[in-house]
Amino acid sequence: MTVQSTSLGRRDLFRLGLGLVVATGAAGCASGGGSSSGGTLIGPKSPKVEAAERARQIAGARRTSIKLTALQTEFDLGGVTANTWSYGELPGKEIRIRRGDLLNVELRNQLSQPTSIHWHGVALRNDMDGVPDLTQSEIVPGGSFTYEFTAPDPGTYWFHPHSGAQLDRGLYAPLIVEDPEDGGNYDTELVVVLDDWLDGLGRTPDAVFEELRAKGMPNMDHGSMPGMPAMPKSDLLGGDAGDVIYPHVLANGKVWKAPQTFAAKPGQRIRLRLINAAADTAFRVGVPGVPMTVTHADGFPVVPVELDVVLLGMGERLDCVVTVPDRTAPVLALAEGRGQFAQVLLSTGVAASTDNESLAAELAKLVVPEMNALQATDSVALPLREPDVTHDLVLEGPGDKYSWTINGKVYDPTEGLPIRSGQVVRLRMQNKSQMFHPMHVHGHTFQVRANGKTGPRRDTAIVLPGRELIVDFDADNPGQWLTHCHNIYHSEAGMMTVLSYVE
Ligand code: C2O
Ligand code: CU
Repeated sequence: MTVQSTSLGRRDLFRLGLGLVVATGAAGCASGGGSSSGGTLIGPKSPKVEAAERARQIAGARRTSIKLTALQTEFDLGGVTANTWSYGELPGKEIRIRRGDLLNVELRNQLSQPTSIHWHGVALRNDMDGVPDLTQSEIVPGGSFTYEFTAPDPGTYWFHPHSGAQLDRGLYAPLIVEDPEDGGNYDTELVVVLDDWLDGLGRTPDAVFEELRAKGMPNMDHGSMPGMPAMPKSDLLGGDAGDVIYPHVLANGKVWKAPQTFAAKPGQRIRLRLINAAADTAFRVGVPGVPMTVTHADGFPVVPVELDVVLLGMGERLDCVVTVPDRTAPVLALAEGRGQFAQVLLSTGVAASTDNESLAAELAKLVVPEMNALQATDSVALPLREPDVTHDLVLEGPGDKYSWTINGKVYDPTEGLPIRSGQVVRLRMQNKSQMFHPMHVHGHTFQVRANGKTGPRRDTAIVLPGRELIVDFDADNPGQWLTHCHNIYHSEAGMMTVLSYVE
């Protein structure tokens, strides 16, 4: 039996869940031989999902219970007051657990729209992945949902809704999974969450998305219209750096003029956990005059390397250890291609100017190394093997009505890319557009293969315009997993597909 995709609404797919048979031949570009033939979908409610969760559970795990409310609130961004949606703080209060712990979060929705929470980067059970209509029903206004899952891998993660453009409001927070072995190379840590901000200052992300749709193809007349701001451009990003103009960028919820101050001591080693929670902005980050030792990409360890400046696409995280100098030093985050920055001050007590515009201008001139050239440590690197199945993801846009496509199609949850448990899966992402795309895979941490070399393990990686990026992963987490660009406007406009376990 073959279910016609036209006869299936998104909601229906989730309700049918287990036992659904799809026409996987329609997925088109599978090139792994016979393994792309059709099969029964392994849905979020499959016993296989339950079994994978049991295999993750470890002895001595703790259970952490948290209650969250998504609601409308006002925040002082530092002389600017924004009326927005949040989990009560900006950024949301971090959740901190230990590797292997069971996390239980009850989310109550007091918003006027349905919502959800996606636990970005966590290899969790599929039915807790927080994708409305694919892995759960949306959480209606006034409703609630309890997420409960084991977090198997230590690292810097975060969470946000997977509903509309809600990510571009204040609905985001860090999720830190500690390793009992953490702490050897640093004395203290500081989480820095970066964001581009427009909500509640006369526009909403929903209105911005409608504008993009109405305009069709944005970023075409770069500053050529009198009185119109130039659209963001960046050589580092190989072309367009954004589709939306933001009045502010924030570090830990504050504009650059009113930065958060972190009390630090000279000589102290601080593990910076950098998280890019922006919707449309890549950030370059540096501490002028202070080298950063990069230790983790998207939570997974890399061979430590000392850099003056790093780059984070939307959704990405980097952990870097810095040694505090004998003066107050800013952690500067430049919105790539936008001439805007945000900062957090590592304060040694000596009063320092927060007027770091000239330092930011210097940072903008540095050469930023290729982040996909970071190398996974031997402990986590995936060995190079012939893939059992290869899927191409051709990234294009913007088309008519600002559509962004993968393999020529906008998102359709019934037309996933089939994979099977136990396979080595290769994704060949080809960017045929003028803009960079931070491509994110749910539920797995892939191995970047840059120029045949072993790159970092990551769950999100930038694919530059005109370039191809190859990533491999072990299909070891059954379910239906979204794969998409982490530019929220691109993903809303269609740049998403499903890695679909079948049997
Ligand atoms: Cu952080 Cu599907 O995304
Ligand atoms: Cu994109």
